[in-house]
Amino acid sequence: MCGIVGVLGTHEVAPLLVEALKRLEYRGYDSAGIATIDDGKLDRRRAVGKLVNLSDALVHNPLTGKSGIGHTRWATHGAPTVSNAHPHKAGRVAVVHNGIVENYQSLREELVAAGYSFESETDTETVATLAQFFLEQGQAPVDAAKSTINRLEGAFALCFLFDGEDDLLVAARKGSPLAIGHGEGEMYVGSDAIALAPMTDRITYLEEGDHAVITRTSVEIFDANGAEVERPVKQVQLDATRIEKSGYKHFMAKEIAEQPVVLADAQAHYIKDGNITLPVDLDFSAFDRVTMVACGTAYLACLTAKYWFEQIARIPVEVDIASEFRYREPPVPARTLAIFVSQSGETADTLAALHYAKSQGATILSVVNVTESSMARDSDMSLPILAGVEVSVASTKAFTCQLSLLLLLALKASSDRGAQSTEQVQSYLAHLQKTPALVSQSLNVGDAVKEAAKLVAEAQDILFLGRGAMFPLALEGALKLKELSYIHAEGYASGELKHGPIALIDKHVPVVVMAPRDALFEKTISNMQEVMARGGKVLLISDAAGIAEAGQGVWSTITMPEIEPVFAPILYAIPAQLLAYHTAIAKGTDVDQPRNLAKSVTVE
Ligand code: F6R
Repeated sequence: MCGIVGVLGTHEVAPLLVEALKRLEYRGYDSAGIATIDDGKLDRRRAVGKLVNLSDALVHNPLTGKSGIGHTRWATHGAPTVSNAHPHKAGRVAVVHNGIVENYQSLREELVAAGYSFESETDTETVATLAQFFLEQGQAPVDAAKSTINRLEGAFALCFLFDGEDDLLVAARKGSPLAIGHGEGEMYVGSDAIALAPMTDRITYLEEGDHAVITRTSVEIFDANGAEVERPVKQVQLDATRIEKSGYKHFMAKEIAEQPVVLADAQAHYIKDGNITLPVDLDFSAFDRVTMVACGTAYLACLTAKYWFEQIARIPVEVDIASEFRYREPPVPARTLAIFVSQSGETADTLAALHYAKSQGATILSVVNVTESSMARDSDMSLPILAGVEVSVASTKAFTCQLSLLLLLALKASSDRGAQSTEQVQSYLAHLQKTPALVSQSLNVGDAVKEAAKLVAEAQDILFLGRGAMFPLALEGALKLKELSYIHAEGYASGELKHGPIALIDKHVPVVVMAPRDALFEKTISNMQEVMARGGKVLLISDAAGIAEAGQGVWSTITMPEIEPVFAPILYAIPAQLLAYHTAIAKGTDVDQPRNLAKSVTVE
């Protein structure tokens, strides 16, 4: 799961490659590298860790040339070392790769038997070596690349550069997206259009199985059968300016703080004169059920939305983790609306699950933040959550914008299916439009959360509890905390605690109880008492009345604004995010780029 870029330029390409990699760093930051051709000669630089290390290396040891490829890596095969960093090189061939070549072991054995040796543990070096093998068999570079691609199994996006070929890139897509950018006498390749935004807004997206032969003045595209095909050149609207922290210490802090504004803007986009206005032709009376599929935080947004769709619109909903859904091959009955939720719109498992549901005849709706993403392009309908660019690896504003839009869809479903009266739906909408202001108020809990984070940072384990639609929020609180602070955290449905997890409770385990005053408040509080009876340290998150009623004897409290219970998940996401943020600060971990993670997970 990596970012790749290629440039056939008219000026020095190293700065362009590094700039494009900066924009792709969300795909992985274990190592980075570039290769260029200068005077027909191929050379490369690679560095372990974040891109800044490669930039430093290039200052001391520059790389010249007007054509080149680059890569930012999230390690799959082999540790993040220089020898495992891309571009990989064998003889005259350099390759950058996103994805996994599944048959690389057998190919490698074949090549070793033919006398080739390897310096890395990666699957990608096999690709470079195989292409070199075909060159040595007398094939021309383009043919060698094609012969190589034909032997590969798995999911990949590849870009080849050949020693002695200053005006040639060969790019291929199978399972991992790839965009070709058209410039003035220049051509580009990138994992996505965002990487190429400073260079061009004219983009051709390769389709599944395509490969492209690119020169500065031409691009020839061939489909999976080897037939030459036309793919459209699209004018995309992407902001070429690099997103800045605007005075915040971290992107995550900035993105948490942006939530009132982006939520209000997104709601204004979809609610006009008190009515839901969607830019797609979506009528829930055409469907008998909804299947929702996603990964990670987006999955937890779906899990929350299940409560809304079922309670408000009375439509059955199934929610699945994409990596399970795609291989379980579930039957997809007629009249199913399949909703795929993804910030990036590129997550490999969610994309594959989308393709599966499509193959089964479901109507596909994607809910994405990146409007030019693969999911948006491959869906019957796509709705943007309009959160704005989210840079921090941990998802925050995208989560609350997903929740807000999914709640809006639940209301649309209830109105289409006659489950609620027009007045009821309008009353829900009026309440929904109050959430940005309440989110803004709830950002004031920052200081209380900061105090709580000091204790949480000392803990080895921490539990989050919630009931009803607050159960997914408990899962989200735990996910956010573990990814940022590396503390073991679990979320449980409060009522499930006594069926096993309660054995974990002792005075060393903080328990965060998310308890808005909803219909299940008393029951959640009973479960909280069970924790306290066993010495557990409770951090109670509720409104003032809830804390007055139940806060006696708890270790700490966070007082939230009052809110209609239906909307509480949107609001209670804030203290969950802030707790993870402040705990990470207290622990000194990397807030915006936690270890082992990447913003967009483009391998399965
Ligand atoms: C957690 C987080 C991840 C993503 C997941 C899906 O903070 O950000 O769990 O939610 O990788 O990513 P998208 O939404 O891009 O499909």
